[in-house]
Amino acid sequence: MQLTIPKGFFMGAAMSGPQTEGAYKKDHRLESFWDHWSDLSVSDFYNKVGSYVGNDFYERYEEDIKLFKSLHLDSFRTSIQWTRLMDQDQKLNPEGAAFYHKVCACAKENDIELFMNLYHFDMPYYLFARGGWENREVVEAYAVYARTAFREFGKEIRYWFTFNEPIVEPDQEYRHGAWYPFLKDEKRGMQVQYHIALAHSLAVREFRKAKEEGYLLKDAQIGLINAFAPPYTKEDPTPEDLEALRMTDGIHNRWWLDLSTSGTLPGDVLETLKACGMAPEMRPGDEEILKCGRVDWLGFNYYQPTRVQAPKEKVDEAGYPKFADPYIWPERRMNVYRGWEIYPKGIYDFGMKMKREYPDMKFFISENGMGVEHEDRFRNEEGEIQDDYRIEFVQDHLEWVMKAIEEGANCVGYHYWGVIDNWSWSNAFKNRYGFIEVDLMGNYQRKLKKSAHWVKALIERRDGIG
Ligand code: FCB
Repeated sequence: MQLTIPKGFFMGAAMSGPQTEGAYKKDHRLESFWDHWSDLSVSDFYNKVGSYVGNDFYERYEEDIKLFKSLHLDSFRTSIQWTRLMDQDQKLNPEGAAFYHKVCACAKENDIELFMNLYHFDMPYYLFARGGWENREVVEAYAVYARTAFREFGKEIRYWFTFNEPIVEPDQEYRHGAWYPFLKDEKRGMQVQYHIALAHSLAVREFRKAKEEGYLLKDAQIGLINAFAPPYTKEDPTPEDLEALRMTDGIHNRWWLDLSTSGTLPGDVLETLKACGMAPEMRPGDEEILKCGRVDWLGFNYYQPTRVQAPKEKVDEAGYPKFADPYIWPERRMNVYRGWEIYPKGIYDFGMKMKREYPDMKFFISENGMGVEHEDRFRNEEGEIQDDYRIEFVQDHLEWVMKAIEEGANCVGYHYWGVIDNWSWSNAFKNRYGFIEVDLMGNYQRKLKKSAHWVKALIERRDGIG
């Protein structure tokens, strides 16, 4: 059956400032958390490629936006880098602002809707050195940054987002010890997660204020983007498996869903955290701030589900209670390069959950994509990468999205992650995601892959052209 997508359904590209811009020392940009880590130990990055390079978007933004246009993509998301827009005195850096004004103008000229996110794991290093998200002052500094961005670009950007995947920093930096500073400390992780929830809420408050004061477009909207990994456990779960599911879902998904739909945090999760001495420190007045956290819509990044079961050990290495162990589903299919399960139906299950539990909240698929190593293997005689696996991946996911929409899910769009190959954190350029290849040995030159033609034809069918 030929896949079709409805008219008015956004089809676009997802990317981020720190993964694409490069030009890390231009415009008096500040050092980021990633630049610092790269300087400290570049061997932690695949092929020793640190954060400095991106995919040259800073120089090639015009070419890239025109490429999007040529594929009929109608929207794209990127992020402002805090380190480029602000100086250390928390004032606007006009050179950095000039770059983002150029990007806005170029999107407009090409009639592409720009979705702008404010934070994609990229803390300025001087703030990280002061404790990062563990420090309440950093929360305040983020609100100043958000206010500055709303005022500066208010008339140029319609769709704003406070955070991309706010769960990732608490997880990667504080819980799993995967990213610098490699901690495994659930309690500090919870404090970080709580402070990010506050920072998000303060930014939404600033957004509403800026709107009232006439700085924003009348129809401007604010949202939150998260990887709401749909949670599953065994088919015949024990009460302990269900408990593992409750806390995993609570910390990873409901925490952000409740915050962004009702301005609260899940009471059952906070109670469990309190009972085991892991509750974050809250201050009087915080509840009022959190109430501002309600957004206009949500972005759902979907790569893989979460499968959990009751933990074998009751406590972790640091002596904190353990809520769950991973569960390996015997039927799982893997993206072996990234180590992520491929489960397209998860996208539908999330849509149905939204319909049931948060019927007033619209959402879009803000990221979905497939990273593959050594794509050179798949070149045809003309040198074009034949990424049929990617086409299949996107098609399978979009089919489940369409089914969710038919059954009443309020899903309004789909952004493919990494339309142009980009830099991926500690994996650097190991896995390529793009519909468009970046030639690292050829000055970052762009080349279409087979999937680019496929997505173009898909959008042409939506629009009745071609
Ligand atoms: C997501 C991130 C994004 C990208 C993809 C592959 O978790 O939001 O920056 O690296 O994974």
